[in-house]
Parts: sequence; structure tokens; C-alpha cells
Amino acid sequence: MKLTVNKVEHEIDVNPEMPLLWVLRDVIGLTGTKFGCGIAACGACTVHLDGKPIRSCVTPVGDVEGAVTTIEGMGTPASLGMVQKAWLKHQVAQCGYCQSGQIMSASALLEENPEPTDADIDEAMSGNLCRCATYPRIRAAIHEASKMLKEDA
Ligand code: FES
Ligand code: FES
Repeated sequence: MKLTVNKVEHEIDVNPEMPLLWVLRDVIGLTGTKFGCGIAACGACTVHLDGKPIRSCVTPVGDVEGAVTTIEGMGTPASLGMVQKAWLKHQVAQCGYCQSGQIMSASALLEENPEPTDADIDEAMSGNLCRCATYPRIRAAIHEASKMLKEDA
């Protein structure tokens, strides 16, 4: 089957029941997306499917119709995306384990709602858990990214 990830088409030969997360990490080798709970409860495995956040740990790859974007598609160390820049500015990450998923959810939120309120942020990010409790900095970084995206428009 064919799978488009970060604008690159891959031909993959796996059981269609295999979760997308396994394919991304073990078959394609994109390890930026993390395994947390495996039951759609923590958000660590969040990627975009046609721009919308999905939990890749519970999405069978055979059900994926559309383009997948992972954290690797959001920018590179030499050319960071706006949300990543805001994350760095606010030094959001602690252990970092949840942060790929956080950034994917945050960027999907900003795509849909470029100027979210605190309440909008809390609602959109409620499915992304952080053991290190970086929530206040995540919120600040999302406001920052919103400002940066507006200035850049
Ligand atoms: S690993 Fe997918 S939601 Fe936790
Ligand atoms: S930064 Fe450690 S789990 Fe979120």
C-alpha cells in the first residue's frame, strides 16, 4: 500500500491492521512520534492526517486515506517551523517525551483558530498529557506562535 508522509510517498508492505505509529517509527524510521499509552489516552503519538490531529497508536494504517504529517514535517533544526520557534523561545520541553504530540496538536489548533483564547487552548490540548506538567509554558508558547504567525502573514 502507498502512504504519503511529510510529502514523500512510501510503498509499504505491512498488515493493514498495523497501527500507523508502528509504520512511522519501525517501517519508515521516523522516530520523532512517540509511543506513550497505546490506547488513545495521552496524545504522545499525535500526527496530522490532512491537517487534522489523529492518534497514530490506534489508527490502523489500512484506514489512512490522506496525507500524514509528523513532527519531522514541521521543520528542521536549520529551519524551524513557527510553533517550534515559539516552543524554543518559551523553553517548553522538560523531558521532551510528550512534546512532539503537543506541537502537532498546537499547530492543528492554530490552523483552525489562529488566535485561540486560554480556554480554546485548554480544550484543544486536553488530550495531550505531560508528566512534567509543562502546561503553562505550552499555553504561553501557543499564544507566542499565534502572534508570530500573525506578524508573518
Ligand atoms: S500513545 Fe497514542 S494516545 Fe498515547
Ligand atoms: S515534557 Fe516531559 S512529559 Fe511532557
